Amino acid sequence: MAWETETASRPFSELSLDRMLETLPSKISHSPLTVPLSNGSTLTIPRRDLFDARFQLISQGTGDVESAESVELMSALQFLDNPSDLVPFIYEGGLKTWECSLDLAAYLSGINYGAKCTKTRILELGCGTTVPTLCILHDIFSSPPIEEREIHVHLQDYNASVLQLITIPNIILTWYHSSAAETCRSGELEDRVESTLSITPQLLDSFRKSLETYRIHIRLFSGSWENFDIGITGGSYNLVLTAETIYRLDSLPSLVRLMRSACLSDDHSGEYLCLVAAKAVYFGVGGGVAEFTQCVEATNQEARVETVLEKKSGVIRKVMSVRWL
Ligand SMILES: C[S@@+](CC[C@H](N)C(=O)[O-])C[C@H]1O[C@@H](n2cnc3c(N)ncnc32)[C@H](O)[C@@H]1O
Repeated sequence: MAWETETASRPFSELSLDRMLETLPSKISHSPLTVPLSNGSTLTIPRRDLFDARFQLISQGTGDVESAESVELMSALQFLDNPSDLVPFIYEGGLKTWECSLDLAAYLSGINYGAKCTKTRILELGCGTTVPTLCILHDIFSSPPIEEREIHVHLQDYNASVLQLITIPNIILTWYHSSAAETCRSGELEDRVESTLSITPQLLDSFRKSLETYRIHIRLFSGSWENFDIGITGGSYNLVLTAETIYRLDSLPSLVRLMRSACLSDDHSGEYLCLVAAKAVYFGVGGGVAEFTQCVEATNQEARVETVLEKKSGVIRKVMSVRWL
């Protein structure tokens, strides 16, 4: 199999969290997402509504139509009409939640990752709605802060607009619905299917303070995997996550190389967990678990891919753990 196919490349870029917070709309509407957990219970997390993201795009306008940001936003607006589709190397599907991300969230919750982690660097690749990371943050924000904790959460998506419109709003919503935000909520959380959160300067201040108190450092990166610069992001990670990202053969080599260096680069001697959630087969696109495993082995002969969770209803879905050795 030829693994070195060239892909359309987008530059690596870091997006400022402060700038993203400043440009949020005054209200965010959201609906609950139910994550079935391995112990039979469920976790409900709020997720920004797509129609609301679309409204934000329309109401803020696109400014200078020639700028890269405007082109990006226009693409996102176009694809919000049909978010289940992805258009290779333009919009890669991050606006909607894909089902394997729920499996990955369930797995992380089953091993109690969020509650147990202390000094940890987490990278979610192709994060989109970032459900696995939301589950980790939910667990962290649901218990009192621990002094020795230092959590670095790095989120990557191909599309900067996805990080701005969906990823960051979802993180704020998860925080707001946790006990960490109890004091800044005026009353009980409304138990409605649809709801709206007002984004005030006070709310954003409280969010920033919670990040400080819980020692959570969030950074956001857009662009192609092949351009991701681990030197700039601060070196290796303890947890590398990715869901529904192995669908295209062309992109597999860069993703696999990045996952490997994200676990092993520099002088990192700590423990790592590298988890990939995916369907066994992506019909009509070419990728899948077998192709991913072959690509891992072609990149590193010693590496091992182990299935840690499997769902057999409909198309087989797996959560895999990769040991790079
Ligand atoms: C199908 S979406 C999955 C989103 C999310 N993980 C989920 O499961 O809901 C695929 C994600 O991979 C990212 N992606 C796909 N190809 C990429 C590439 N070549 N470089 C960087 N990111 C890419 C996109 O940003 C997108 O968010």
